[in-house]
Amino acid sequence: MKVKKTLALFLVATGLSFQMNAQENKLILNVDQGEHVISKHIYGHFSEHLGHCIYGGFWVGEDSPIPNTRGIRNDVVKALKDISIPNLRWPGGCFADEYHWMDGIGPRSERPKMVNTHWGGVVEDNSFGTHEFLDLCEQLGCEPYICGNVGSGTVEEMSKWVEYITFDGESPMANLRKKNGREKPWKVKFWGVGNENWGCGGNMNADFYADQYLRYATYCRNYGDNNLYKISGGPSVDDYNWTETLMKKVGGRMNGVSLHYYTVPNTWNEKGSATQFDDKEYFATIQKAFHMEELVSKHSTIMDKYDPQKRIALIPDEWGTWYDVEPGTNPGFLYQQNTMRDALVAGVTLNIFNNHCDRVKMSNIAQAINVLQAVILTKDDKIVLTPTYWVYYLYKVHQEATMIPFKLNSNKYNYQGLDVDAVSASASLDSNGKVHVTLVNVDPTKEQSIDGMLNGVNFKKISGKILSSAKINDHNTFDNPNTVTVKDFNNAKLTNGKLAVKLPASSVVMLEIE
Ligand code: AHR
Repeated sequence: MKVKKTLALFLVATGLSFQMNAQENKLILNVDQGEHVISKHIYGHFSEHLGHCIYGGFWVGEDSPIPNTRGIRNDVVKALKDISIPNLRWPGGCFADEYHWMDGIGPRSERPKMVNTHWGGVVEDNSFGTHEFLDLCEQLGCEPYICGNVGSGTVEEMSKWVEYITFDGESPMANLRKKNGREKPWKVKFWGVGNENWGCGGNMNADFYADQYLRYATYCRNYGDNNLYKISGGPSVDDYNWTETLMKKVGGRMNGVSLHYYTVPNTWNEKGSATQFDDKEYFATIQKAFHMEELVSKHSTIMDKYDPQKRIALIPDEWGTWYDVEPGTNPGFLYQQNTMRDALVAGVTLNIFNNHCDRVKMSNIAQAINVLQAVILTKDDKIVLTPTYWVYYLYKVHQEATMIPFKLNSNKYNYQGLDVDAVSASASLDSNGKVHVTLVNVDPTKEQSIDGMLNGVNFKKISGKILSSAKINDHNTFDNPNTVTVKDFNNAKLTNGKLAVKLPASSVVMLEIE
């Protein structure tokens, strides 16, 4: 007995007790030590001319019986405003590098039709173009993020697009814009110089793309007080050479480097079903979601070498789950359902971005509506808010708040000799002095008890919201749209500065502490 007590005292004195108590998850939040702001742009979205993201998703046209404002669906605008959408990326994706913006301006009936060769070989009638996109962003109250065409476009074409949108004065492009009904220029800050230029954006190597970037970006001018924030076409997954080359050759002549990483449970040929998956596929999905931590860390370490002040952002502007399309749908439309599993992936990933907010200043989940890990699904006049949508709803409290550094000692979720942390977390302090903690329990069968501490504050009040469901593959459908939704959470207690949370299996929780 005495030996045990002496050992316990020794462990406490040396601080080893923290590691020894691995059965209980421990969370120490250093509320007074925050330095970095979580940019609201981490909560960005992506809309491509792909399947029914634009057509049927955002855009139904002015004559549609579906309630719309100048052709844009009102239900979609409301839903995205409710999650405080900060920015929207457009027109692609792979589509961006075959898009010629001049096809999408002027009277709609006169716009040329083209084939969308990347996505289903369908006819693109260009009825949704620059004016419609910028109107959409105005209705959403978000920043546009336009991705220009490097793969099949010219320097002149990209340069003129910037002039058309942002120049306030007498010039051929500004005059054309006025002729098309928009007198005043728009403000556009986020400008992508190509997309996936290692693949669908031109199959370039890193050196060649870096040179192209410099050439194209030179002629993307800042007109008046419109300052472009230029984002280069960045690496795929773990192509660290791509990042190194860009940092070396381009450096401060870009504001951000994009990063693309998709969570695919199996292989690219047989990705797996969005709704029918076994334990193995579930574990693989979660494990691959956690891989984002390694990718962000390693790309950031390379960037640190060239940019220790962290002026250049790492921007995962395409991420999310990618499964086989729903049976009976066009394989080129990438339409998939969205379950609680997707919500957990979103929760884990957004926690990673929050925790790296010194370098990750923006991100865009792929994609907003009806494509891949969508936050919204639409069918005719019906709309479904997916479990992933509700994660964005819970996490919006982090936008523009100061990230709280913390130490988390998590239990493991094991599967056949492999494991990942069962608990993922991030926390922030907002301008009203409230602390928000977002927690994810990825273990599909075990509740996780978390003992926590808030250093530097003396808060007394706690409340919470939870996203969970009876089954991990539960999802919302057009007939049953509310199977997975947010509810009040009452299993978090705060006593004398000590936090005690019981996190149900496969759940996402947001705590508010004041
Ligand atoms: O989001 C779907 C596609 O995935 C995008 O068009 C492309 O950039 C990526 O390969």
